[in-house]
Amino acid sequence: MKIAVLPGDGIGTEIVAEAIKVLQVLDLTFELETALVGGAAYEAHGHPLPDATLKLAKAADAILFGAVGDWKFDKLERNLRPEQAILGLRKNLGLFANFRPAICYEQLVDASSLKPELIAGLDILIIRELTGDIYFGQPRGRRVATDGHFPGAEEAFDTMRYSRPEIERIAHVAFQAARKRSKRVTSVDKANVLETFQFWKDVVTEVGKAYPDVELDHMYVDNAAMQLVKAPKKFDVVVTGNMFGDILSDEAAMLTGSIGMLPSASLNASNQGLYEPSHGSAPDIAGKGIANPLATILSAAMMLRFSLNQPQAADRIESAVKDVLASGLRTADIYSDGTTRVGTREMGDAVVAAITKKTTKG
Ligand code: IPM
Ligand code: MG
Repeated sequence: MKIAVLPGDGIGTEIVAEAIKVLQVLDLTFELETALVGGAAYEAHGHPLPDATLKLAKAADAILFGAVGDWKFDKLERNLRPEQAILGLRKNLGLFANFRPAICYEQLVDASSLKPELIAGLDILIIRELTGDIYFGQPRGRRVATDGHFPGAEEAFDTMRYSRPEIERIAHVAFQAARKRSKRVTSVDKANVLETFQFWKDVVTEVGKAYPDVELDHMYVDNAAMQLVKAPKKFDVVVTGNMFGDILSDEAAMLTGSIGMLPSASLNASNQGLYEPSHGSAPDIAGKGIANPLATILSAAMMLRFSLNQPQAADRIESAVKDVLASGLRTADIYSDGTTRVGTREMGDAVVAAITKKTTKG
């Protein structure tokens, strides 16, 4: 089991270190190799995704990724910014299927800004298409307008586009995921305005005919944004395009109390995957030892389940995380009165301890 470890920037190094600690107590043998990515790679090698890093990632069964980005790189030209590393990995490895589960842990019901009854027991899965849409559509750029409201003025443009096979494959992923859950898929689009998303809706509907056991409904993205805070438990599997998925997955994350708890998986057609916390590099708290490592630890569990075929090891990590939350330990982002505030390392240590305790008990 070859794992490329790409901690990246900001809190990335701190949280990935905790996930590695957890992987190492599982009695499995991993080949771990670490490389620079994002702003850290730019500073050392002049590019956020150096060839050596990409090569390592391609050769691995899975990639454990921290986070990239820092305000100090905001002035760089776009293709050198840290974010290009994650976009480049998604594109080069064909990681088209992004899984972003939003689960509200019983003990964290009060950490959400929503009323407890709205989110207690919440368990939704956002499936975001990750290599198409306006993120990657060509052409894009800046030019002088020859038409539109202001001919002769400077303008910028991007292209929203989806091909049939791109929609079909992500739709299959969503229907198959739904079969393992409560057999409901909500496809989110903007078919009332956008040609791209009328096509999306048509293709998802066609694919759905092969899954008569799965209930499919369609929702416009603006309504979905509203329903997510009004009645989030009505959703089960949500499938949507790259940009809508970016926005809705952050919204869904906050339903659970803290984005510091949310793992993610990005898979290609051969189940090779990149695993990263849904949160970013949080440069404001980097180096302080207070970041929540649980999203990364839970991402490592997803890695074991989806790419490394070790579902039992994944279960052990997930149940250890629940035990640690039940014992009252909290990092700052999920802290509330009556719980015990701990730092990044103490949280990682606690997960390790919970795993080893269960192991010795048999
Ligand atoms: C995410 C992030 C990325 C995205 C950025 C860092 C490029 O927001 O993974 O959701 O927009 O996809
Ligand atoms: Mg995002």
